[in-house]
Amino acid sequence: MNEKYKVTSLFSGCGGLDLGFINAGFEVVWANDFFSDAVETYKNNIDTHIVLGDITKIPSEKIPDDFDVLLGGFPCQGFSVANTKRNMDDKRNFLYKELLRLIKDKQPKFFVGENVKGLLSMQQGKVIEMIIEDFRSIGYKVEYKLLKASDYGVPQNRERVVIIGNRLGLKNPFPKITHGLENNLFDRNLKPYISVKEVVGHLADIRTRDISFELNGKLIHNHVARMNVADKFWGRKHNVNQDEICGYLRYWRDKSGWSTKKVDEHFGYAYTAGHWFRKDNNSGSIPNPSDWRELKKLFNFDDKYDLAATELELKDIKFEQSLRISNWELPSDTITATGPEIHPNRERRMSVRECAIIQTFPDDFVFYGSLGSMYKQIGNAVPVLLAEKIAEVIKLELDKYEQSISNTEEAINTNRIIREKVFK
Ligand SMILES: C[S@@+](CC[C@H](N)C(=O)[O-])C[C@H]1O[C@@H](n2cnc3c(N)ncnc32)[C@H](O)[C@@H]1O
Repeated sequence: MNEKYKVTSLFSGCGGLDLGFINAGFEVVWANDFFSDAVETYKNNIDTHIVLGDITKIPSEKIPDDFDVLLGGFPCQGFSVANTKRNMDDKRNFLYKELLRLIKDKQPKFFVGENVKGLLSMQQGKVIEMIIEDFRSIGYKVEYKLLKASDYGVPQNRERVVIIGNRLGLKNPFPKITHGLENNLFDRNLKPYISVKEVVGHLADIRTRDISFELNGKLIHNHVARMNVADKFWGRKHNVNQDEICGYLRYWRDKSGWSTKKVDEHFGYAYTAGHWFRKDNNSGSIPNPSDWRELKKLFNFDDKYDLAATELELKDIKFEQSLRISNWELPSDTITATGPEIHPNRERRMSVRECAIIQTFPDDFVFYGSLGSMYKQIGNAVPVLLAEKIAEVIKLELDKYEQSISNTEEAINTNRIIREKVFK
């Protein structure tokens, strides 16, 4: 097809999803976000068609009518597994209604929604059901799938729910997996996963700096990083013998006639008390100072271990090894919006550029805003390459559809010409 399919994009952020569609040959005609740094990044790297503003305040008439695909990676905070308070009342959970409104008002051929994996388990699956039902109720054929970015050549095990819908009665296409573990017995055609080291190894020994610089003939932008790899924490002042204290608490629990279950219920815990009374293995734990004082009230024990259990002091902590990016030789864990992991062999976090590379943004894509803001824009984004793979299969479906329409038109025209000739 010669003319490019047109796209409108909601919740565009800095443009990961949009750039994937552009790379696959689509033209984005209108985009929106209310995060000004992300809009600045978008404008400088993609185009000025992005409008800064709250989508709930932008009437449909202000948005172009003529486009083929609507994109909307609707915000996910309320849905995230990491957020234990997620619930159906969180206002952000209803931002998919903006996508719904635009689909209803503009009737795009296809739409693509994107969200975190937690959406699937929220309210025992009721939320995703409700969303899909809402899209179906306005005449769209809708499917969703959990896609793992590393399966498509992104050096990151990011999992995202992708919802695709169309009003043409076509199949909703999802891209085929192209990458996997080496020596995959089930599919020998898969290419090996891309590792973190492969893509950012060249920056490991390069010191971070505020300005762009040249490395091996290539300009490197945004190689800036958070340096906090150590911190302070409140730790116990005295050496404690955990086994002894657990035994002591167990004695007083029995003496005062409390069961472990009753103690848990009293504190509102699910299993914690079980660990306080454990004597026989390494999974015991000592109650924190306020729980200790409450237990003392319940069991009325003496002062023997009060200081050991309750006196704290500020200590230095080196962040756990676990906070380091662990998969240097494999795809990384999810790059989040809140803060990157520590570099595997440097005393710094992964730099903005390293995170951007792991999210498959091109090297010349420059981010704007404070350090935290840049990390956030990148962590929010759909990996460009994953977006491109999704865009490619949608484009194929659209091409087939356009082809079938033009075949039908051609057939009608041929019939008309034949009829005209016969009845002349
Ligand atoms: C998950 S991010 C989308 C990232 C984007 N799809 C990408 O690939 O880069 C969600 C975006 O929704 C934006 N957002 C949230 N509420 C909004 C609102 N009411 N109006 C406009 N944008 C909003 C946030 O600022 C954020 O950039």
